[in-house]
Amino acid sequence: MGFLFLFCLLFIGAFSCAQLVIAQGNDEATMLAIRDELGVSWWGSNNSDFCSWIGIRCSLDQSTVEMLDLSHRELRGNVTPVSQLRALKWLDLSNNFLHGSIPSAFGNLSELEFLDLSSNKFGGLIPMELGRLRNLRSLNMSDNLLTGKIPNELEALEMLQEFHISGNGLNGSIPSWVGNLTHLIAFTAYENVLEGKLPENLGSVSELQLLNLHSNYLEGSIPESIFALGKLEVLILTQNRLTGTIPNSIWKCTGLSNVRIGNNRFVGTIPKAIGNVSSLRYFEADNNNLSGEIVPEFSLCSNLTLLNLAFNGFTGTIPQELGQLGNLQEFIVSGNSLFGDIPTTVLKNKNLSKLDLSNNRFNGTIPGDICNNSRLQFLLLGQNSIRGEIPPEIGNCVKLLDLELGSNYLTGSIPPEIGHIKNLQIGLNLSFNHLHGSLPPELGKLDKLVSLDVSNNQLSGNIPSALKGMQSLIEVNFSNNLLTGPIPTFVPFQKSSNLSFSGNKGLCGEPLSSPCGFSNSSNGGNNHHKVSCKIILAVIGSGLAVFVSVTIVVLLFMLRERREKAAKEAGVAEEGSNSLPLIIAGNVFVENLGQAIDFDAVVKATLKDSNKLNNGTFSTVYKAVMPSGLVLSVKRLKSMDRTIIHHQNKMIKELERLSKLCHGNLMRPIGFVIYEDTVLLLHHNFLNGTLAQYLHESTKESSYKPDWPTRLSIAIGVAEGLAFLHHVALIHLDISASNILLDADFRPLVGEIEISKLLDPSRGTASISAVAGSFGYIPPEYAYTMQVTAPGNVYSYGVVLLEILTTRQPVEEEFGEGIDLVKWVHGAPGRGETPEQILDAKLSTVSFTWRREMLAALKVALLCTDSTPAKRPKLKKVVEMLQEINNSS
Ligand SMILES: *[C@@H]1O[C@H](CO)[C@@H](O)[C@H](O)[C@H]1NC(C)=O
Ligand SMILES: *[C@@H]1O[C@H](CO)[C@@H](O)[C@H](O)[C@H]1NC(C)=O
Ligand SMILES: *[C@@H]1O[C@H](CO)[C@@H](O)[C@H](O)[C@H]1NC(C)=O
Ligand SMILES: *[C@@H]1O[C@H](CO)[C@@H](O)[C@H](O)[C@H]1NC(C)=O
Ligand SMILES: *[C@@H]1O[C@H](CO)[C@@H](O)[C@H](O)[C@H]1NC(C)=O
Ligand SMILES: *[C@@H]1O[C@H](CO)[C@@H](O)[C@H](O)[C@H]1NC(C)=O
Ligand SMILES: *[C@@H]1O[C@H](CO)[C@@H](O)[C@H](O)[C@H]1NC(C)=O
Ligand SMILES: *[C@@H]1O[C@H](CO)[C@@H](O)[C@H](O)[C@H]1NC(C)=O
Ligand SMILES: *[C@@H]1O[C@H](CO)[C@@H](O)[C@H](O)[C@H]1NC(C)=O
Repeated sequence: MGFLFLFCLLFIGAFSCAQLVIAQGNDEATMLAIRDELGVSWWGSNNSDFCSWIGIRCSLDQSTVEMLDLSHRELRGNVTPVSQLRALKWLDLSNNFLHGSIPSAFGNLSELEFLDLSSNKFGGLIPMELGRLRNLRSLNMSDNLLTGKIPNELEALEMLQEFHISGNGLNGSIPSWVGNLTHLIAFTAYENVLEGKLPENLGSVSELQLLNLHSNYLEGSIPESIFALGKLEVLILTQNRLTGTIPNSIWKCTGLSNVRIGNNRFVGTIPKAIGNVSSLRYFEADNNNLSGEIVPEFSLCSNLTLLNLAFNGFTGTIPQELGQLGNLQEFIVSGNSLFGDIPTTVLKNKNLSKLDLSNNRFNGTIPGDICNNSRLQFLLLGQNSIRGEIPPEIGNCVKLLDLELGSNYLTGSIPPEIGHIKNLQIGLNLSFNHLHGSLPPELGKLDKLVSLDVSNNQLSGNIPSALKGMQSLIEVNFSNNLLTGPIPTFVPFQKSSNLSFSGNKGLCGEPLSSPCGFSNSSNGGNNHHKVSCKIILAVIGSGLAVFVSVTIVVLLFMLRERREKAAKEAGVAEEGSNSLPLIIAGNVFVENLGQAIDFDAVVKATLKDSNKLNNGTFSTVYKAVMPSGLVLSVKRLKSMDRTIIHHQNKMIKELERLSKLCHGNLMRPIGFVIYEDTVLLLHHNFLNGTLAQYLHESTKESSYKPDWPTRLSIAIGVAEGLAFLHHVALIHLDISASNILLDADFRPLVGEIEISKLLDPSRGTASISAVAGSFGYIPPEYAYTMQVTAPGNVYSYGVVLLEILTTRQPVEEEFGEGIDLVKWVHGAPGRGETPEQILDAKLSTVSFTWRREMLAALKVALLCTDSTPAKRPKLKKVVEMLQEINNSS
């Protein structure tokens, strides 16, 4: 070696030393060792040419390996031998099941520029030897179980541009040398247990564009330095203990598009210089202690899409200038001390979908032109001092899903025009006002409305029997008014508590204990208990339709980050089994299973890594064996931020409703357990695993028998389940083959239907990543429409259908750079390829019938994955087309 080194010195200029040292060796033996150790079966059984193996790129002379990509391969073994590949520049081991410590011998890979170990189960400390990787430009260790401090030895990584350690259990503080990394572009360390202050000089010498540190215990103030060079584009510090003010120097960052600093302890005013941050899109600073007025300078940020200043100490009025924000979609200022008129100029912003002024001191009236051709979906004005009458023009707000006017000083009567708001579904709250007159029968037209509250007014007259038209109603409150007469016989009324009708001296009949006399008591009771599937469905439909057009607060970078998303496994896995966390709530919806399910056993099962079955975008699934012998699959939801506790009751109600969904191709929850900030959903355990396993794992086994009819019936079942969801106006957020379960008869059950209701993308940190589905299944238009839609679901279904037809993954390296399954299939004619080269030949060559059917199904899949959403068929139509194929045989 010493000799070689000297030899090297002589050759400076012609070759670099490193290259020469490497040239002496050949990586063949190492590659064979790696193949055996990790069981990489798809690396050809013909040993000779390791440079041709999948995921390998060799040096020009074909002797050494320069790039090794083993991501997404379900690897479990020991990766230490990789450290023998001394010429390696690029190493990607992400998304496997690798565990144990990160091998310190990786520190020997002195040529390494790119190292991705993310989404594994690496535990223990970050090895200090990684500090020897002087050429490293990108280091990604996010989503592992790493603990301890960030080692100071990494200070030597002077070339580092990308540094990602989010989603671990790292503690200690962010070392000050991170601020000295002159090439740093992106730094993410969110969802750890980091404490202490941010480095004083963070960003002062670097190219820092992305800083994401949410959900830690960081304190101190935002250092001025991070804005110093003006390169920052994304700043996410949500959910920490940060104090101090928002630095004035923020104005330097004219490319800053995303600022999320909610749930901290910031004080002071918003600097007027915010107006110089002209590219601002998202500004979220809720739940702090900010004060002063809302600065009119926000109006200079013409791309502003979301402004959330809720729960601070803001005073004054809403500046008229904000009317210039033509892109504004959500304006949320609840929980402040704002007063004055309802800002009509803001309402005129054509894209506004959410106006939340609740919990303030607004003391104007509701303007007559409140909804002139607006897209408003949420009008939340409760808990203010709003006076005057509800204008009849409220009926123009036809897009409204939620109208909350409770606890104000509204007078006059309820305008019948409210009945025009046919979309109203989440709630109509007029309680605690001074409304009088009678209830307009037109309310009965609101057949999607789930919750109606007109309590604590001076409403008089009968409850009109026309209200029976409100077929989706679940919660009603008529209490404390001057209503008279019999309560109409209507299941949602009689199923309500008597408190919903109390405080009205003149009301009688069920559920009140005062009967209306003798004529009414025995009729009408016959269908009382017949809560048919249909009604429940209608109810669920309306409750969930919110997500038909939910505004997704997501940027392109977030789509990228979605995969980086932190599972919180780390924290819990460590807690060990001796200290079982306290269960806050739990229930089993299926009566005859109640006895067989033990909540403690459920929680225990999720604390053991060995029980893990599957790791999805939104949840991790564990197998849990009950003392009774019953086997459950337990889904642990990810990123249910700490606000979950506040929304618990609502969530439990949603779960109960979902558990009643009546369709054989949907996986319904059978119960739930909540502890700390963790939600566990209980499901039956399905023996045959997921569709993804069926397609991609079982086909590799030697015993595999091609079975097209089973695949076709699975395809039809999945389409039926999804068509049903759409029928009840529920849009799925994450359709993928991994989210489709197969029962003992290979009947498919679509899973993850809960997430669309439980993970509200418009809230908190969950919004950052919890949207839009799995890699390869995401329709192209989501990137710019920011809306989850029914045609989007059809696209994702089309990808599943292509998987079924081709036995290929939605994303495969073989397709080439930037080409996914959809592009690969659509591009086949252009490449002059025959159907056999696309369809799985193991199936399509078995018989002419199979081949014909597969070609017909391929046509359906091509329609579903059309890049133009409007051209895709409805799922109902898809079911018909597939059934036709099935019947024609
Ligand atoms: C070895 O395997 C590669 C990739 O599977 C293949 O292209 C090549 O023809 C094989 N060589 C021999 C000698 O079998
Ligand atoms: C490789 O790294 C290991 C652990 O850090 C060390 O013990 C070993 O000496 C190194 N090998 C070489 C050849 O540098
Ligand atoms: C890890 O970080 C690198 C650098 O930003 C990135 O290219 C890579 O996609 C990340 N890995 C995953 C699995 O997201
Ligand atoms: C940091 O984590 C390590 C390993 O879990 C632990 O030993 C240490 O006490 C922790 N330090 C602090 C300050 O919490
Ligand atoms: C960072 O750089 C500054 C200026 O070059 C130097 O004074 C300081 O000691 C460095 N900090 C660390 C932790 O290396
Ligand atoms: C912000 O922009 C305005 C006009 O574009 C300019 O006059 C002002 O100096 C800028 N800087 C600050 C700190 O406001
Ligand atoms: C607003 O967004 C558009 C589209 O992304 C972009 O072209 C434009 O430059 C942005 N405007 C500002 C002021 O950043
Ligand atoms: C918020 O600020 C006010 C005055 O500025 C102070 O009285 C109050 O204690 C602060 N609240 C918190 C939670 O820091
Ligand atoms: C609304 O409240 C503000 C602040 O308390 C007060 O100055 C103003 O006169 C009030 N406006 C009306 C119309 O009552």
